[in-house]
Amino acid sequence: MRLFLPDEAATLALGRRLFEFLKPGSLVFLRGTLGAGKTTLVRGLLRAAGHQGAVKSPTFTLVEEYALPGLTLYHFDLYRLTSPDELEWFGFRDYLRSDSLCLIEWPERGGDTLPAPDFSIELELDLPGRAATIETAPGGDPELLSEIGSAAPPGIS
Ligand SMILES: Nc1ncnc2c1ncn2[C@@H]1O[C@H](COP(=O)(O)OP(=O)(O)O)[C@@H](O)[C@H]1O
Ligand SMILES: [Mg+2]
Repeated sequence: MRLFLPDEAATLALGRRLFEFLKPGSLVFLRGTLGAGKTTLVRGLLRAAGHQGAVKSPTFTLVEEYALPGLTLYHFDLYRLTSPDELEWFGFRDYLRSDSLCLIEWPERGGDTLPAPDFSIELELDLPGRAATIETAPGGDPELLSEIGSAAPPGIS
């Protein structure tokens, strides 16, 4: 499913909407070039989760952790990863738990180390806005996609 996101507010709104469809244990891939809006989407999602503070890009730290009511959200940015092995050394598997949510920018840098995601969102420049293509896991519930689309907030068309 492809959505046009005319401005930053629309990306934030999609993030907020996506949060409603995630369960503890969910894994989300965020693909797309630098500046496509991946971190902005995570910021919107964290706002929906009740996080009021800053949302920093984890480009240099690899992961930022957010303690939310009832679960921990891990926001990864694998841009600077030079080999998928680094993820193993980092202990990535300890982050994927039934009481955590993992959102991963640049998942392609993780290679086969990463399991299949519950959602994969590709953001593209569609200037002056962005476009988002959302996929669920193979075998996932295809109705989820139409639900996310039909529940699209104002600003998304
Ligand atoms: N739908 C949109 N339309 C226009 N600008 C956007 C949109 N979504 C995000 N942006 C802007 O794009 C810039 C880069 O966003 P960011 O989330 O940091 O990208 P990424 O994490 O993919 O590198 C930010 O200035 C942000 O405000
Ligand atoms: Mg980013």
